[in-house]
Amino acid sequence: MLILRKGIILAGGSGKRLSPLTGCISKQLLPVYNKPLIYYPLTTLMLIGIKDILIIINPGEEKLFKKLLGDGKNFGINLNYKIQNKPEGIAQSFLIAEDFLGGDACVLVLGDNIFYGDNLFKILQNAYNSKNSSTIFGYKVKDPERYGVIEFDKKNKVKSIIEKPLNPKSKYAVTGIYFYDKNVVNYAKKISKSERGEFEITDLNNIYIKKGKLKVEIFGRGSAWFDTGTHDSLLEASNFIYTLEKRQSLKIGSPEEVAWRNKWIDNNQLLNLSKFSNKNEYGKYLEELIPFHDNH
Ligand code: DAU
Repeated sequence: MLILRKGIILAGGSGKRLSPLTGCISKQLLPVYNKPLIYYPLTTLMLIGIKDILIIINPGEEKLFKKLLGDGKNFGINLNYKIQNKPEGIAQSFLIAEDFLGGDACVLVLGDNIFYGDNLFKILQNAYNSKNSSTIFGYKVKDPERYGVIEFDKKNKVKSIIEKPLNPKSKYAVTGIYFYDKNVVNYAKKISKSERGEFEITDLNNIYIKKGKLKVEIFGRGSAWFDTGTHDSLLEASNFIYTLEKRQSLKIGSPEEVAWRNKWIDNNQLLNLSKFSNKNEYGKYLEELIPFHDNH
């Protein structure tokens, strides 16, 4: 039986590590080359096939997000917004999303995470369709101490996750996309705040691991994952998107394109969306996706 999952994008946070860039704007609205950062996690959910999405944002930022994304109808999806009053941790998302989820399973993606790669999306879609309904994803990195790190036992089974360890037990970081079953809200309610004052996503993952209910998949070679939480990683992500888009004449992270390819919007709707960017290459690209278009 196919499990229906709703999507959550966590797009709040203090953005302090990106200061002064984030002095007056949400980190998730900053540009990554030619698109706002939030376009990338949004299209990740859309590529998995998720249409019902909750965006969790900081107080005072609703107007800006709504100006950019509206209620999602333009992209053939359903966008809802909820405020996180203070950035008290990633696992708090599930408490904020309790009504929205209404007991359904879900996928949470962090608003500052970018995923890319053909195989990677196949892995995500398999996880979506899997009966084993809670899955997280690891990625080999040079600097695991920046992340939640996977600890394996001698048989290569996942033993636990450790948040930002000083001495990481492996090079595998936990990426910011998490698939959980319908118990997620109840488990999230069991977590207390960590020493740094946050409801840690790592504590939630460890609850699932202890119950033997968490699958960990590894994204391999040929997939790219960026956590754009620092000045350098934000620039690296922009450079990556720029290089790929120029080389392949394709756009990465375009919700207009994904909506159209998913058949959630038709040619006319795509043409209308392309007009918002009709003075540049982005709009031209969208227009040229439409078969037999006439751009003269
Ligand atoms: O990117 C993957 C990593 O994300 C994981 O490996 C770690 O286990 C996980 O804790 C998290 O670490 P970060 O240090 O990168 O988390 P950060 O505080 O940067 O938050 C990630 C995103 O979530 C960011 O876009 C801001 C948003 N956020 C964060 C918190 C704590 C919120 O909207 N509200 C919050 O309360």
